[in-house]
Amino acid sequence: MTVTIVGAQMGDEGKGGVVDLYGDEADVVARYQGGDNAGHTVVVDGDEFKLSLVPSGVVRGTVGLLGNGCVVNPATLFDEVDALRERGLDPDVRVARRAHVILPYHRVLDGAEEAAKSDSDLEAGTTGRGIGPTYEDKAARRGIRVGDLLDPAGLRERIEYVVPLKRTLASEVFGVDPDDPDHAEAFDAEALYEQYRAYGRRLDEEGMTVDAGRFLADRVAAGDEILLEGAQGTGLDIDHGSYPYVTSSNPTAGGAATGTGLGVTTVGRGEVVGVVKAYFSRVGTGPMPTELDGDLAETIRERGGEYGTVTGRPRRVGWFDLPLVRHAARANGYTGLVVNHVDTLAGFDELQVCVAYDLDGERVETVPSETDRWARCEPRYRRFEGWPGADWGAVAEEGYDALPANAREYLDFLAGEVDTPIYAVGVGPGREETVVREHPLE
Ligand code: IMP
Repeated sequence: MTVTIVGAQMGDEGKGGVVDLYGDEADVVARYQGGDNAGHTVVVDGDEFKLSLVPSGVVRGTVGLLGNGCVVNPATLFDEVDALRERGLDPDVRVARRAHVILPYHRVLDGAEEAAKSDSDLEAGTTGRGIGPTYEDKAARRGIRVGDLLDPAGLRERIEYVVPLKRTLASEVFGVDPDDPDHAEAFDAEALYEQYRAYGRRLDEEGMTVDAGRFLADRVAAGDEILLEGAQGTGLDIDHGSYPYVTSSNPTAGGAATGTGLGVTTVGRGEVVGVVKAYFSRVGTGPMPTELDGDLAETIRERGGEYGTVTGRPRRVGWFDLPLVRHAARANGYTGLVVNHVDTLAGFDELQVCVAYDLDGERVETVPSETDRWARCEPRYRRFEGWPGADWGAVAEEGYDALPANAREYLDFLAGEVDTPIYAVGVGPGREETVVREHPLE
């Protein structure tokens, strides 16, 4: 069986913690999209692990797979694997041979394009990891795949074709000198070949590469449990998010099939768990109708630790946006919901939930397709009584009914509005600080 974990907001919903919680019973944890733009924080016995590429399940000894829908920066991959080994772990990480590879020029061009857009409204506020330019090359059929790193002649041919294009793009379009000593190696075909062949040799020596679809289908046939770990969130989906302020892949549940090679029926027979925060956060640009500012925003940001895992940027915070989560529930077909950061909202006298928008005088219940119309939406709020702080560890042990009554009222309202049962409630950063109502793999 598969369990797919998908963010229902703008990323940073705490999916890493959910994967950690449910991943214990999984045999494989696979990512199906994104790359080292994804920040996952996992706390094990008070020890914090921050990962941006390797699936977080490996921290607990589960096999981790980067599916074909991912974009892989081998430098990050090996840094993370080596760092885990230094901490005494023995991570078993496999990488799809069909996954695309991030090369240094992708990062340089990511920054150059963002700089070029910075005078307009088009800047996406990317993580600068080269994600968009790598998916761009994938779609343009000039990308380099993990399997190519194992084939010296093929790798050389591809690099020699693509590097002159990238040099021209850098210098002629973005005014970036490809021979600038700061990044000259990123545009040097021979240096790239040597570096990426070395990565290929290491991937091969360590037996890390697989045909992801076959690997997973065999595991499913053998009765193994597979957790499919989405990165980012529905609002950042290239099709269903706030284009162009999105990432360049499909975090939504359909991506779990195309990004791994498992059939949609296999994914669809499993569970699809939506993860939300009890409020809303966004890092990067784009609309956010419920955005807060001033002291209230600062308090939530500080209490919730709302700073980007990958970039350290302060996150924008706002009230829970139901129209967005309704949109996510439809696009993903959730079977269950996890609501995180319920402890972060404790202590406020009152809270607001955006239940609909006003758009040009009309009531709108979900996210408009046009991003500029979304930006014009004014939230309609429903007010909720706040709840007090609690001994959250004890609450987690006792279960859902031990949550403060007002918190339960808030959660039951959200679950009713998106017609999806609540599987778990996060009341702190550690796995023990989770109220578990439903474990899809138990
Ligand atoms: P990119 O994925 O680096 O191209 O960035 C595109 C947009 O997605 C930017 O607004 C980023 O801030 C956002 N983004 C990418 N990854 C994450 C994530 O893991 N959490 C939250 N936002 C993200």
